[in-house]
Amino acid sequence: MYTDITMEHFKNPQNVGVIECPDGVGVAGDPNCGDYLKIYIKVENDIIKDIKFQVHGCAAAIASSSMTTILAKGKPVLAAYTITEKKISEALGGLPEEKEHCSLLGALALKKAIVDYANNRWKNS
Ligand code: FES
Repeated sequence: MYTDITMEHFKNPQNVGVIECPDGVGVAGDPNCGDYLKIYIKVENDIIKDIKFQVHGCAAAIASSSMTTILAKGKPVLAAYTITEKKISEALGGLPEEKEHCSLLGALALKKAIVDYANNRWKNS
């Protein structure tokens, strides 16, 4: 059902946790299943220097969240903003059709964290 990459990220998710004093925070949830994801980012010179997440969700949501942080870490914020659920799913080697929607949490929470970062920067300028 799941690829080896997905299973690895489910069993050993990367970048789990909280960033104290983050530059941006994004939350996404799926009302149909009740799963949700919170992403924290730390940004320097418009590069995502650190990223962490907390998730309450299924195996695919956990693996997708982990992969989202790996894809985003070290990237310019504008490049990270273009990370889609399709890219996340592809990086996991594909998700079962009925689990494709789980990768949406990662893409959405990341976008919201980047928008939050941009708003905070604008407020402080
Ligand atoms: Fe809810 Fe996977 S079933 S995110």
